[in-house]
Amino acid sequence: MEKHDFVNIQDLDKEGIMYLIQMAQEFEQHPNRELLKGKVIATLFYEPSTRTRLSFETAANRLGAKVIGFTDAKASSVSKGETLKDTILMVGNYADAIVMRHHIEGAAQYASEVAPVPIINAGDGAHQHPSQCLLDLYTIYQTQGTLENLNIYLVGDLKYGRTVHSLLMAMRHFNPTFHFISPVELEMPEEYKIYCRNHNIKYVEHHDFTPEIIADADILYMTRVQRERFTDLMEYERVKNVYILHNNMLGLAKENMRILHPLPRVNEIAYDVDTNPHAYYIEQARNGLFAREAIFSYCLGISLDDIKADKTIID
Ligand code: NCD
Repeated sequence: MEKHDFVNIQDLDKEGIMYLIQMAQEFEQHPNRELLKGKVIATLFYEPSTRTRLSFETAANRLGAKVIGFTDAKASSVSKGETLKDTILMVGNYADAIVMRHHIEGAAQYASEVAPVPIINAGDGAHQHPSQCLLDLYTIYQTQGTLENLNIYLVGDLKYGRTVHSLLMAMRHFNPTFHFISPVELEMPEEYKIYCRNHNIKYVEHHDFTPEIIADADILYMTRVQRERFTDLMEYERVKNVYILHNNMLGLAKENMRILHPLPRVNEIAYDVDTNPHAYYIEQARNGLFAREAIFSYCLGISLDDIKADKTIID
């Protein structure tokens, strides 16, 4: 079987994205199956995680695979000085696929070049988060009925937030208009603005976060200020609470607008928003399960037709 890594979201073309979304739809209908029976999935988390790791592990378990791995690199041989290359080669001896989160940008790419088994990038530094991106795309498609021609507002830490970087690149196939709302210190990095210009992605930048500015949004994508990426914690203190979404800011919103957030939230969405019909971040996190079942299938050579013809469904 050809090795299918899942490392950079921009490696997927439009058909590839829609194919994975269709797979996720099948899994939403029937999440419990034995498609991965006999397989072993490794989850190597060099950085903290709740949703990403637990939904990957749930996806593996619900498809009948077994899971090995670590959640704290200090408890592995990394603390004895083992290199990433050696760890990946070792785990590649044991597992059929490796899910990896690492603080170094490009770590997953490197791992995919040395690993004998598929590598799934669960976040590499401030760079990419392709599995989050697939669940974000799935959620946008689910709520808007299309990915085409949408106004997507990205709010908060656009400098270090890897989820917005992946979403921006994936949306290039769908003629979006992006609005970047951030403090000056956390603006979308130049390399991503160049990416937009090279791919004819329209974008507008703002520093104010007001009901009038977000009135035209189809998707309001809030993000956490990424404290762990700051070299100067004084700067973090200055920007950490600049934008807080409150319920009383949503009066002008389009009827079908949905608020997304990759979570965890720190302060950026007030609790009074949770019961507003525009709030969709908890459902979004639930979609992580179906998106990650689709990613395992893609990486392990299971096709959409195989999923449709699957007789191992457990209701
Ligand atoms: C995101 C991440 O790890 O980049 N979380 C997640 O995977 N759902 C966003 C964040 O940590 O702010």
